[in-house]
Amino acid sequence: MANLFTIPGRIVSGEGALEAGGTYIKAMGTKALIVTDSIMERLGNLKKVTDVLLREGVGFAVYSGISGEPTDLMIAEGVKIYQAESCDFLIGLGGGSPMDSMKAIGAAASGGGEITQYMGTVIDWELPPSVAIPTTAGTGSEATQFTIITDTEKDVKMLLRGPGLLPDLAVIDPAFTATAPPAVTAATGIDALCHAVEAYTSRKAFPLADSFAVSAVKRIFGYLKRAYDNGGDMEAREQMALAALEAGISFSNSSVTIVHGMSRPIGALYHVPHGLSNAMLLPECLKFIAEGAETPLCELAKETGIYREGMTERQGADAFTGAVCSLCESLDVQTLAEFGVSKDDFVSNISKMADDAIASGSPANTRRQPTKGNIIAIYEALWK
Ligand SMILES: NC(=O)c1ccc[n+]([C@@H]2O[C@H](COP(=O)([O-])OP(=O)(O)OC[C@H]3O[C@@H](n4cnc5c(N)ncnc54)[C@H](O)[C@@H]3O)[C@@H](O)[C@H]2O)c1
Ligand SMILES: [Fe+2]
Repeated sequence: MANLFTIPGRIVSGEGALEAGGTYIKAMGTKALIVTDSIMERLGNLKKVTDVLLREGVGFAVYSGISGEPTDLMIAEGVKIYQAESCDFLIGLGGGSPMDSMKAIGAAASGGGEITQYMGTVIDWELPPSVAIPTTAGTGSEATQFTIITDTEKDVKMLLRGPGLLPDLAVIDPAFTATAPPAVTAATGIDALCHAVEAYTSRKAFPLADSFAVSAVKRIFGYLKRAYDNGGDMEAREQMALAALEAGISFSNSSVTIVHGMSRPIGALYHVPHGLSNAMLLPECLKFIAEGAETPLCELAKETGIYREGMTERQGADAFTGAVCSLCESLDVQTLAEFGVSKDDFVSNISKMADDAIASGSPANTRRQPTKGNIIAIYEALWK
């Protein structure tokens, strides 16, 4: 079967990537809207980017109003500023939230109307040129054809898609990730692990996307705990930045599956950060995925050195699942209760969350097709 494979137009990565990226950013236009959050401003990351723009003679305006994960209201505000400031390209600086917002602002500014009207539409028209500069090693948004925006009226995290959402330039400078606190490092790193494992075990997997998924899983097993234990370990930070990029490339081309499908409703209703809700779900979901995905999971066990001679495929798959659970435990992932979610409230919403998970389409990409009953059972297992 033939498969289309897409990546961002250009990728500049490694130490000094921001400095080196100046020339390519300049080629994007004359005035950028920089979409970011207040933490990036406070950390001095915004200034690092504006210094490069000033040096290159590129104009800019700043929208630093992305607080938490992006909503339709934040996007509407960004579109207003983009137009009022007569910008002609976009830069997203930060974690997945500012990068996704930057993409959505580009889609709404070029397509017209509200971002919510694009749910279910393939965004395939020409958007303003876009530059993604990640500061977390997680979402891979710098390399994906997706943006995730909350529809505040419906309390649903919309997954918007289309080739127009692929950034024209991704600047991956691991120096930005050095300040990410341990909890953010853990949650975003597990988000990347989910992307790669879900992509590799997806019904839509294919060889070219698989290569990126395998490479990402190996790097994450090798370096996530190191980056979590010592944020200043620049080798670990660089490896994780690459892993997040590779994992993003893998799932943007194949797909995510049950973990992401079930994660978005938790984020929409309880405002659990995306990486954390994935991390909460991953161990239970992997046990579900394992039946029907023994072969790819056993392959991942071999690639990561977890497989032992003489194991059956099923044993190899289980060993991989066990290693993922141990990794999550070593990163002190919070439970729903520790995050402050009320069990009674959660249980009362399980049926809606299961419906929203199925409606997103992601669970259907799992090899073993989950029923609504399966999904409810996994949500319930989060309280055991
Ligand atoms: N587009 C995609 O393909 C895709 C894929 C996965 C997730 N997402 C979306 O991405 C969003 C989550 O992104 P995220 O997990 O990167 O979190 P985030 O962007 O929301 O950032 C989390 C927190 O960490 C802070 N932070 C970020 N980088 C930092 C740094 N270097 N130093 C210190 N603090 C830093 C931020 O200011 C914020 O407070 C969600 O909305 C999720 O749905 C999108
Ligand atoms: Fe994700």
